[in-house]
Amino acid sequence: MSAPTHHVVAIDGPAASGKSSVSRELAARLGFLHVNSGAMYRALTWSVLRAGVSPDDPGAVVAHLGVIDIACGEEGGRATLSVDGVDPGDGLTSPEVNAGVSAVSGIPRVREVLVARQREYRLVADIVMEGRDIGSVVFPDTPYKFYIDASAEVRAARRQREGISDDLARRDAADSTREASPLVVAEDAIVIDTSEMDLTRVVEEVLAGLAGRGMEVDS
Ligand code: CDP
Ligand code: CDP
Repeated sequence: MSAPTHHVVAIDGPAASGKSSVSRELAARLGFLHVNSGAMYRALTWSVLRAGVSPDDPGAVVAHLGVIDIACGEEGGRATLSVDGVDPGDGLTSPEVNAGVSAVSGIPRVREVLVARQREYRLVADIVMEGRDIGSVVFPDTPYKFYIDASAEVRAARRQREGISDDLARRDAADSTREASPLVVAEDAIVIDTSEMDLTRVVEEVLAGLAGRGMEVDS
């Protein structure tokens, strides 16, 4: 197999650390495709709940995964996602999905299937992909990996300002302690504590990190 030709910028970190905002802005600045891997775990969870399947029943979740069609694509420079032809939209961030997604994403077979989808994106575009295990498991060979953090208090306040019910502490604990690809700081990741930073500053830090690792970026 030939060596991958596209760049991958991996943005990992705990919930509400700013991954989506930073990745979106960064992708726009670089002209890369922004891919939110969390949205894939959320889409499956959304579908599982709609089907009346318990997120805590791994056998039933895996069986459900086998009968649905999760389509991950790209349209007009934007990553797209649908389940059996339906875009879950705001359903991805409902309180029920927030509560069930960590159980679903902890199932090894689920990760196997979705990680394969995530890797396909590099075949078609330069990407900024955000998640929990992008630098550690999905694209461990990319030199461009970042761990975006913020204190638990700051993250809880950020999510609260969005007015969405989300038990961050419980989700972070589950994501960090599960056996299958837990949230870890990849050993070669650049760690950025954003507790005291606004979005513009974080993006500048990431761009500086990319330049430091050899990517040509316009400042
Ligand atoms: O935006 P936020 O950080 O709140 O969550 P997200 O990135 O949308 O991810 C939702 C959930 O999906 C996480 O709590 C993890 O359980 C799971 N996830 C994962 O296991 N691996 C990833 N690469 C991305 C998300
Ligand atoms: O994707 P993730 O859950 O990690 O975080 P996000 O959805 O990008 O950000 C969560 C909230 O924090 C959003 O409302 C952002 O506008 C806000 N935010 C912030 O106040 N300061 C930052 N440096 C980054 C994000």
